Amino acid sequence: MEICVIGAGYVGLTTAAVLADLGHSICCVDTNIEKIKQLKRGEVPIYEPGLSELISKNKDQLTFSSMIVENIQKAAVIFIAVGTPSLSDGRTDLTYIQSVVDEIAKAISSYKTIITKSTVPPGTNENIDKMLKEKGVDPKLFNVVSNPEFLREGTAISDMIKPDKIVIGKQQDDQKSLSILKEIYKSITAPFIVTSLNGAEMIKYTSNAFLATKISFINEIARICDKYNVNIEDVTKGIGTDPRISPHFLSSGIGYGGSCFPKDVRSLEYSALDKNVTPLLLQAVQAVNQSQVNLYIEKLSAFIDDFSRKTIAVLGVAFKPNTDDTRYSPAVSLIEKLSSLGCIVQTYDPKAQLPFEKVETVSQHAKLETAIMNADCVIIATDWDEFKQLNWLKIKALMKGDFILDARNCIDPQVVRETGLTYIGVARS
Ligand code: NAD
Ligand code: UDX
Repeated sequence: MEICVIGAGYVGLTTAAVLADLGHSICCVDTNIEKIKQLKRGEVPIYEPGLSELISKNKDQLTFSSMIVENIQKAAVIFIAVGTPSLSDGRTDLTYIQSVVDEIAKAISSYKTIITKSTVPPGTNENIDKMLKEKGVDPKLFNVVSNPEFLREGTAISDMIKPDKIVIGKQQDDQKSLSILKEIYKSITAPFIVTSLNGAEMIKYTSNAFLATKISFINEIARICDKYNVNIEDVTKGIGTDPRISPHFLSSGIGYGGSCFPKDVRSLEYSALDKNVTPLLLQAVQAVNQSQVNLYIEKLSAFIDDFSRKTIAVLGVAFKPNTDDTRYSPAVSLIEKLSSLGCIVQTYDPKAQLPFEKVETVSQHAKLETAIMNADCVIIATDWDEFKQLNWLKIKALMKGDFILDARNCIDPQVVRETGLTYIGVARS
């Protein structure tokens, strides 16, 4: 099938590579000309394990272009995978979606299935349909389908190849799209959940909001456990065996980040308020998450009375391991907070770069050892495997002070303490 994927970001590139691997002929387009030039040279602009290999394996049926209208014209199926970031009031910024709609309206002269993979608030796909009609596009020439994406960065390819479900939202009178979607995904074994356009949009937001709720819930429980000297892992193990609860998404730490949870929980809150529903739980989930970084700083202040000119090594910049993505990274918030307190911050991350302009007090190091050099305290801010296997005796020898703050509960307190270093965590004894 001839498919045009619009947007060459984390979702667009993964979609393009996986669909090409399933045997379809794909053109992935993006307005970012530099990105397309890189992709044409065979360079993948993001770090996602296995993506570069999958793209090069499928180079015969996967092309890249910045000629958007021309490539929409050629394809029978359009996947929309452009960004839907937050506006300052929490609403979703739909300008990229709007510009895609404009491009599609210019291009359509034969029938297209228009599939939205981007996460968009309830009502958006119905609006896309309405906007196309208002722009004079013949309704017989298209159907709009919602097919939200549930991949996680770091495991994007396997998540897309082996999803737990494929959600399809379509209009009631649309008799064509379901069979087209089934044809596209015919090599993937997963149940199809078919619903309305608004239903599919709500499934996506509810899924992210529920997972974010689990994280804020366990982070709140960890605060209580900390006061009663209870190890949070004993509690998660104890409750996680109950299949109604499950052990997943119950790791406590500095909170959730990334390009999805923070913006999507906020967007769902906005959609609720817009219809006069006060989403008390969603508001609490965000309030807990926003105070996690401060909780860890408070923990540290019991050991460090004056932060100014203290040298702090922060291991991890990415919002989670196995990605270079720093959008809404709690590690970045922590670095900014420490810098505002007057600390000298030395960072290291295996893949991610600090997302802000160079400041005198914050440095990024290519080697973990130089980031740790002369540090009063080492903070683990992202749970990369590399940080779980550190030789703490070697670390101690490089440091000036002796504090280790584990903001991801990913190292063994005993192993650290045996070297004479001071382990600091929340609800970890
Ligand atoms: P991204 O920012 O990595 O990539 C978006 C790309 O779209 C950019 O390269 C941008 O240049 C391009 N673009 C913007 N307007 C365009 C236009 N008019 N024509 C062509 N290209 C255009 O975004 P992402 O992380 O891949 O997310 C895309 C969507 O998928 C968002 O709605 C997001 O919420 C959703 N999503 C993301 C993830 C994730 O883990 N990143 C997972 C599931 C769903
Ligand atoms: C998330 C959803 O999982 C995915 O289904 C959706 O498509 C996009 O958003 P992603 O943001 O890539 O995926 O990462 P995820 O693994 O969900 O982690 C999100 C954040 O929560 C990270 O900052 C992570 O460190 C944090 N997290 C996750 C916890 O703090 N505790 C946990 O137990 C799990």
